[in-house]
Amino acid sequence: MSSIKDPTLADQGRMNLEIAEKRMGALMKVRERFSKEKPFEGLTIGLALHVTKETGVLVRTLRDGGAKVAITGCNPLSTQDDVAAALAEEESIEVWGYKGESSEDYYKFLNEVALTTPQITIDDGCDLVTLIHQKYPEQLPDIIGGCEETTTGIIRLHAMQKDGALKIPMVAVNDNKTKHLMDNYYGTGQSTFDGILRSTNILIAGKTVVVVGYGSCGKGVSMRAKGLGANVLVTEVDNFAALQAGMDGHRVMKMEDAAQLGDIFVTVTGNKHVIRTEHINKMKDSVILANSGHFDNEIDMQGLEEMSASKRRVRHYLDEYVQKDGRVIYVAGEGRLVNLASAEGHPSEVMSLSFCGQALACEYLVKNKGNLPCDVVTLPSEIDDEISALQLNAMDLEIDELTEEQVKYLASWEEGT
Ligand SMILES: NC(=O)c1ccc[n+]([C@@H]2O[C@H](COP(=O)([O-])OP(=O)(O)OC[C@H]3O[C@@H](n4cnc5c(N)ncnc54)[C@H](O)[C@@H]3O)[C@@H](O)[C@H]2O)c1
Repeated sequence: MSSIKDPTLADQGRMNLEIAEKRMGALMKVRERFSKEKPFEGLTIGLALHVTKETGVLVRTLRDGGAKVAITGCNPLSTQDDVAAALAEEESIEVWGYKGESSEDYYKFLNEVALTTPQITIDDGCDLVTLIHQKYPEQLPDIIGGCEETTTGIIRLHAMQKDGALKIPMVAVNDNKTKHLMDNYYGTGQSTFDGILRSTNILIAGKTVVVVGYGSCGKGVSMRAKGLGANVLVTEVDNFAALQAGMDGHRVMKMEDAAQLGDIFVTVTGNKHVIRTEHINKMKDSVILANSGHFDNEIDMQGLEEMSASKRRVRHYLDEYVQKDGRVIYVAGEGRLVNLASAEGHPSEVMSLSFCGQALACEYLVKNKGNLPCDVVTLPSEIDDEISALQLNAMDLEIDELTEEQVKYLASWEEGT
């Protein structure tokens, strides 16, 4: 039995799903094939993913491939209530979640998905797989495998693997080129600013934007910040990533120095407390803090709460923390992923790539049932390449083919200078 906020929002949800489907041509091609081949007939697929219109298109694709689908959110603030309402009315789909859900409901809903005894799981952040391993271990022998969407989830899975705790094969969908070099880069790059702008409506041009972490997401955020006219400062803990930031033309420095200079701070590290109270103490009046990393622990929100004289909500997901010395610190999206808390997440086109990865990973698990190790596995590069081809086709772009002479040349070593 689904549990959603408001069933009367279903019409709006259906319209949003319709728009997303028009922009997700690659995934719609996969759906067309799945509808004929039914690779998931008789299976239940359990998902803990942001319940957005793009995820809705994935859910329908898995369902049309023959699966029963049970879905809940993977963040208390990211569920789009209209989409949840529309999906809940559809056959073979159960939905639990609402925007702004309590921590208690978040875990209650996660349990609901686990209780449908899925044979395949899809996670964004590893919460569902962790729950099943800890609370429902008797289910593990019947699970074919799972898929993980994001960097933070993959880090958790590697930690499980290292401890010998991982008991099912897990496909690291995030490791597809068509995922982390697209979604994390172009998706997070654009949607992070979408979130910051919806919360603040601030002019980015001329501002100093501090990007904390220069991985796939940080590179995308920095590129968009630069494009919008900001001066970009990058902080890092990794020598090579810092070097790349420097070579890309950004200033690189320690957080304690950047803290004094920034107007807008964006954390994208997948790490804990990268902005702490000692940094906040050095910040200028009216700075904006935003996080686009997976968990809400990148900014020390509790520390900020405790050091502040008062707090109030001043705009759409914008909280004002007044400091004892009178300075004001603004936080967008409650320190949770700002692109999903304050806006609608990544645009459909880029999610089409990520979710082709999820749909094809589920099919890969079924085709290789019983033959995969209980490890973190990556999809064969041919599948990644197929996703690129599907997306190029959806964008109406064509590429050249190697001539016979070129194939021979590339495989030979005799010909030189
Ligand atoms: N908002 C979204 O929609 C979205 C989308 C994709 C990924 N993510 C999340 O964003 C986070 C980053 O993902 P990624 O793919 O860029 O990861 P990544 O591993 O490619 O990059 C993270 C970078 O942060 C750096 N870092 C770690 N600790 C740091 C510290 N204390 N100070 C400065 N830098 C530090 C690392 O050295 C690394 O270069 C993850 O939590 C991921 O799950 C969010």
